Amino acid sequence: MKIAILSNGPGNYSTKRLKEEALARGHEVQIIKYRDCYASIEQNKPTVSYKGEDLGKYDAMIPRIAANMTRYGTAIVRQLETQGVYTPSSSIAISRSRDKLRSLQLLAKAGVGIPKTIFSRNSTDIDDLIEKIGGTPIIIKLARGTHGNGVVLAETKKAAKSVLQAFYLTNEDGTNVLLQEFVKESAGTDIRAFVVGNRVVASMKRQSLDDDFRSNLHKGGEGTKIKLTDEETKMAIKAAKSMGLSIAGVDLMRSERGPLILEVNASPGFGIEKVTGRNIAAAIIDYVERNAKRGSKKDRVGA
Ligand SMILES: Nc1ncnc2c1ncn2[C@@H]1O[C@H](COP(=O)(O)OP(=O)(O)O)[C@@H](O)[C@H]1O
Ligand SMILES: [Mg+2]
Repeated sequence: MKIAILSNGPGNYSTKRLKEEALARGHEVQIIKYRDCYASIEQNKPTVSYKGEDLGKYDAMIPRIAANMTRYGTAIVRQLETQGVYTPSSSIAISRSRDKLRSLQLLAKAGVGIPKTIFSRNSTDIDDLIEKIGGTPIIIKLARGTHGNGVVLAETKKAAKSVLQAFYLTNEDGTNVLLQEFVKESAGTDIRAFVVGNRVVASMKRQSLDDDFRSNLHKGGEGTKIKLTDEETKMAIKAAKSMGLSIAGVDLMRSERGPLILEVNASPGFGIEKVTGRNIAAAIIDYVERNAKRGSKKDRVGA
């Protein structure tokens, strides 16, 4: 097959690994910097070009769209979809995964466990909002934050109020500010389950090394291999499915009332390969081989 890896970082570990495994399986593969692609939209003749080359001739693409270029990246993916290039991650599924509010609404609807979450667009009812969550400490997060940067733990009502007021000030559209129950049982740790198709192909626990409540590896968290319970495995697969993603990094926390899903990442990092010794790249190429012939799956999420 002719496979395009859509990635702006040819030197990224994940990109290199995907290329390596695709080559090892006899595919023709090229890394395409989607930020340098351009699209021509014409009746019955859509094209995407990269360095003068028409990308419509690829059999499959593997999008690795960065969070800070979601709109441009998904527009390129969408245009290639219209040209019939197979993708395991549809543009619409990537977009929805980048919005934590939209994601949580879909996860809740699918019956997946999530931390109790509230969104509002004004701060006059702050006391009531905090009460509804169950009091402080409380998590306040930006729906479009990444790498732990938009997440705050407010220990007291006073702190929660001022953080919320500050957030609302710069986010008049209240859908970007989420109030969330603080899952104290596993503060500072979370679990990353890497889902490919109907399987969890690797899982690790992430632990923050200082006393930060955030366990993101970008924040200096450390990963160790972990075995998921059957319930966690099922829930991670269900979470990916309810988002319409066949490749996903599902983040969850263990709580007294069972596993709670925090978010579902559409372009998860491959650092988990080093932690677990599992061959993620091979699992993805294998999935693409098995599914490309059938064409891209229709998105049935409906939201
Ligand atoms: N409700 C919560 N309770 C406890 N810890 C949380 C909660 N939400 C997030 N965290 C911690 O903060 C980290 C980052 O939060 P997350 O929602 O995944 O945002 P990001 O997209 O920035 O990674 C999580 O990995 C977890 O360690
Ligand atoms: Mg996260």
